Amino acid sequence: MIGKRDRTVPVGLAPMAGFTDKIFRLMCAEGGADFCVTEMVSAAALCYRDEKTPALAARRWGEAPCAVQIFGHDPAQMAAAAGIILDEICPGDEMGSPPAAIEINMGCPVKKIVKGGDGSALMRDMKLAGDVTRAVSDVTEKHGVPLWVKIRAGWDKNSVNAPEFGKMLCACGASRITVHGRTRDQMYAPSSDNGVIRRVREAADPSVEVFGNGDVASGEDAARMVEETGCDGILVGRAALCDPWIFGEIKNVLRGGGEPFLPAKEDRIGAALRLLRELCREKGEAVGVREARARVGHLIRGIRGSAAARWAVNRAGTEAEFEKILTDLLK
Ligand SMILES: Cc1cc2nc3c(=O)[nH]c(=O)nc-3n(C[C@H](O)[C@H](O)[C@H](O)COP(=O)(O)O)c2cc1C
Repeated sequence: MIGKRDRTVPVGLAPMAGFTDKIFRLMCAEGGADFCVTEMVSAAALCYRDEKTPALAARRWGEAPCAVQIFGHDPAQMAAAAGIILDEICPGDEMGSPPAAIEINMGCPVKKIVKGGDGSALMRDMKLAGDVTRAVSDVTEKHGVPLWVKIRAGWDKNSVNAPEFGKMLCACGASRITVHGRTRDQMYAPSSDNGVIRRVREAADPSVEVFGNGDVASGEDAARMVEETGCDGILVGRAALCDPWIFGEIKNVLRGGGEPFLPAKEDRIGAALRLLRELCREKGEAVGVREARARVGHLIRGIRGSAAARWAVNRAGTEAEFEKILTDLLK
């Protein structure tokens, strides 16, 4: 057995663009997440002073410790973006404290991102990835803030380079490496490979944390990942979108004891209503309703009548109409 079950393994929310905003992060913190990561934030947009971008990096009161994730590929621009977050955005948000870390996104597989040389495209250019990491590390170190990097197994099955890439990141100043056990080519299928996470753990400097990510949807999945990889912590992505209470359940299994919280229909509809109301309050009714359409579907999935409700909310033009569709599910 590789994993050490007697140690405490933190369980956090993985970054998900369009989902892990401060509203959802607070819900996950209440559901037991030990830490969270923001949606990915464009370094270029921060540096060009795009007006809407800083809100993506801002935290709210009550959240779990939260890292701010940035993407880009220009070392100077990435360093400048980290400086803007640490000097301006985080000191001025509701938490007012430094973030848990700055995280560099070297895992995003989306065409629009890799086409520009960002996200997982950096895994094809070890030299540039090292330069980016070192440049950001210079800034985070000055602020006394940890630097995390999130990677994939590699670009494709012929270039699975996460172990040597991870080693390089350790030498360039990363204090945590999160590994999603799929290549860029695999996107989200087939299943994530715990073996590559283990190989990164074995290759990385022992003082650097290696966190595992990919397909954890239960306490048993998490326990298997810890045992098979020896990872120091776990991130949960898609499973949390349907179940923000999953963190408590996973921690119960990993740490033993305690009854898992199994959300009832009322809890899930309550969470959907809360998300809708907070999105409308934060972004105005029109944008809030539009964004909620794509997001509450996950929370109500599996509830009797939810398929029809998901269809109906696409036609709901107001918050009140949307709310009625959700509350009708309680009947
Ligand atoms: C809708 C969506 C958006 C995502 N956005 C990001 C992102 O902004 N940054 C990032 O590093 N990974 C992103 N990911 C990848 C997740 O963080 C995670 O690595 C992946 O979903 C695998 O974990 P899971 O099997 O627990 O979902 C995203 C995934 C999804 C499904």
